[in-house]
Amino acid sequence: MDGDGVSLAERLRSTIASGGPIPFARFMEAALYDPDEGFYEQRRIGERADFVTSPHVSPAFGELLARQIEEYRELLGDPASFTVVEAGAGDGTLARQLMERLPERAGRRVRYIAIERSSHYREQLRAIPGLEVAGSLRSFGRIESGCLIANEVLDNLPFARLRHVARGWAELFVGMDGAGRFVLVEGSPSSPSLLAHLRHAPPGTEVAVSLAAFDFLDALASLFRRGYALLIDYGYRGASERATPVHGYRTHTIDLEVLDAPGARDITAGIDVDALAAHARARGLAVFGPVTQRDGLLALGFAELDEAGRRRQVEAIDARRGIESVRIFSNRNRARQLIANEGLGGFWFLGLGIGTDARPRAFR
Ligand SMILES: C[S@@+](CC[C@H](N)C(=O)[O-])C[C@H]1O[C@@H](n2cnc3c(N)ncnc32)[C@H](O)[C@@H]1O
Repeated sequence: MDGDGVSLAERLRSTIASGGPIPFARFMEAALYDPDEGFYEQRRIGERADFVTSPHVSPAFGELLARQIEEYRELLGDPASFTVVEAGAGDGTLARQLMERLPERAGRRVRYIAIERSSHYREQLRAIPGLEVAGSLRSFGRIESGCLIANEVLDNLPFARLRHVARGWAELFVGMDGAGRFVLVEGSPSSPSLLAHLRHAPPGTEVAVSLAAFDFLDALASLFRRGYALLIDYGYRGASERATPVHGYRTHTIDLEVLDAPGARDITAGIDVDALAAHARARGLAVFGPVTQRDGLLALGFAELDEAGRRRQVEAIDARRGIESVRIFSNRNRARQLIANEGLGGFWFLGLGIGTDARPRAFR
């Protein structure tokens, strides 16, 4: 409910009743980020909420990414000041893991900025000592050197939905049926920029095009004088694969119905990794990968980390410390989910270089 006690669904209904169907991107924007009822304004990430992400599955994720960040620093010539920007930091689980593991150099700590759109999460992030918190990538000036990490953020940026129909491409808008239920209706594309991002596709194809994701890359291109970005998300290779369907998440379950009860579920679609890479190249950035999360984490030393765990487990068994050995065993199993081909291991790592083309370890 807003300050006048009107629900988000009611507000969207009256917008549609007075002005006609709205672009799906606008509906998604409201459903995820409405200040009163948006999905991300409520506590949604975590084991007891709607979904978990890699840092929630295992701290091995942060440990391996910290190695990559340390190497970024070296590749940039060990600058006196180095800033990590985490976009879409959510509840701060990854921020805590990384801040714990990034050492001081010459008495100076890494500066860590968490960017978070949801005011609910910004408040939570402000409680983490040493963390700077901001609402948008564009809210501070150019950074001399550093890196940006974004885990599962790009898939949550509002996207347009386009369908290849007999007369060309139609955009999907959200309208209402006679009973006031939200329904998809086809219309002419609301912006010519959308058409610029479409590839040849067979009739019936439906794709999600996120102008917000391209805008994110544009902001990133001028964020650092020299730096790196690691974008991690699920998605597909648009140059050779079909798009993944738009869907929702609610209490750890995939939900293909995304219109009913706006704010009650996540809305997401796999990112087109090739389209993002092409956009970054056109902005003059160096592109590394994409590689799968599995390959990226293996290149960062996942197997060695697991072997160290195995040795500790054997030692605990030999010393008859049963509970400890079971705990290590279960942690190793959780960490393996990060590289499982059918799960998180199939996510994409897309690396970008700003003012540098030295290839980072995750992509070697
Ligand atoms: C799926 S969650 C991932 C959270 C975290 N990165 C993790 O791995 O657990 C996506 C997060 O990105 C945030 N977000 C979405 N768009 C954003 C934007 N334009 N700028 C900053 N944060 C954004 C959302 O509010 C949400 O907290």
